[in-house]
Amino acid sequence: MKYQLSQTPVDVPPVSTKYRNIETAIPAPETVKVLRDLERYESRSMHGQLPIVWDRAEDFQVYDACGNCWIDFTATIFVANAGHANPHIVSALKKTIDHQLLHTYTFVHETRASFLKKLIETTPGQFEKAFLLSAGTEATECALKLMRMHGQTISPTKLGIVSFQGAMHGRTMGAEMLKGDPHQSAWIGHRDPNMHHLPFPYPWVAQDSSDKNYDWEKHFERDMRALEANGLNFDNIAGFIIESYLGWGAIFYPAAYIQALAAFAEERNCLITFDEIQGGFGRTGKLFVYQHYDVEPDLLCLGKALSGSLPLSAVIGSQKIMDLPEFGSMSSTHSANPLCCAAGLANLEAIESGNLIAESKRKGRILHRHLGELKKKYADRISWVFGTGLLAGVLFKNPETAEPDGFFASRVCEKAMQKGLLLVHTGRESIKIGPPLTIPDEALEEGIGVLKESIEELN
Ligand SMILES: Cc1ncc(COP(=O)(O)O)c(C=O)c1O
Repeated sequence: MKYQLSQTPVDVPPVSTKYRNIETAIPAPETVKVLRDLERYESRSMHGQLPIVWDRAEDFQVYDACGNCWIDFTATIFVANAGHANPHIVSALKKTIDHQLLHTYTFVHETRASFLKKLIETTPGQFEKAFLLSAGTEATECALKLMRMHGQTISPTKLGIVSFQGAMHGRTMGAEMLKGDPHQSAWIGHRDPNMHHLPFPYPWVAQDSSDKNYDWEKHFERDMRALEANGLNFDNIAGFIIESYLGWGAIFYPAAYIQALAAFAEERNCLITFDEIQGGFGRTGKLFVYQHYDVEPDLLCLGKALSGSLPLSAVIGSQKIMDLPEFGSMSSTHSANPLCCAAGLANLEAIESGNLIAESKRKGRILHRHLGELKKKYADRISWVFGTGLLAGVLFKNPETAEPDGFFASRVCEKAMQKGLLLVHTGRESIKIGPPLTIPDEALEEGIGVLKESIEELN
């Protein structure tokens, strides 16, 4: 059963601390009209998030217009890594607006060149060129196209794409096909015979997940053989696309599994794309998540924290792959827009000057120490804690049946919201934690304290 987050204001005890303030019913009664208008005028497919109305957001705090203030553990789903309304980004945007250059289509502007140069200089050496887009889903579609174009330089039948069941790559057609979820892609009406899906190697798949010697290499081989038995010819695989961790629970792949995949790909001349749209730019204590697996991908899909603010996504790769499409054949009207490029450039500078990747690693230790204690204390409630750096997924179970408990996870999010903490509501048995990497230690600890209180009160 799914828990319905209510839009009706609930009287809650007031909160007043250095970092939080709750002084009205939640959601604030005066904001309910906005929620109602959206219910009336906007597709419900956009709805399901915690019902507060954001008025402004600064650094690690979110405010409504009625005096309430929350510690933000969402970074707007891992966009605001450099902090909400980062002053360096805001200043770059103001300068661009004042300079009166809002749009150039594919005509050249200087900030585009500066941003691309910075992006390529910031990323490891194999990434030589980039293609800029607006949404993450466009980046994954673009990577799909590039992998197939590359495959076809080898053989006309090298079109196969292998992805993971349940992975999130966006909401457009190719991206939903990659997810391999029969319900979510039913609307497409047909199956692409060149899309193949591996089951995600969940830690609990190993008979005894505490078995450090579990053979993930064999596991990978076995799952590939199963695809082969289903008609996949290994020679026809153009590439693999990997969501760098499974988004809904921050669940990482075993490194040995990804290394086996990389060895397979190299042997068969298949490309590897990591979808770093959610985890890139310091979230996990490294620039990119793939660096935790000790492999070398061919392409990366980037988005969200690439700009820390405005719609900006990218695919990066070697010159050889990135230059496969003909001149002018992959442009997009709004991509590489001057404002987005200015935000992207200032964001990369802010991540660098704030030493935010190292900060994510350091603060991540604080976060995971507390979450480890919480898991011990509520062993019958918390089944898993995943993540590293300033990223965590906490998975809940029903204490009686040990079944995943999405209802409880939603209630934790709602309770925390009423106390002045925003968590990522996944609608599943997980909550996700991903504050701006700029959050002060004290606010991080205060937020974790609110999470503890919320679990305690609901348990
Ligand atoms: C891993 C991953 N890939 C792709 C996307 C799609 O990005 P967008 O919503 O910008 O299209 C998301 C969005 O949540 C994501 O988390």
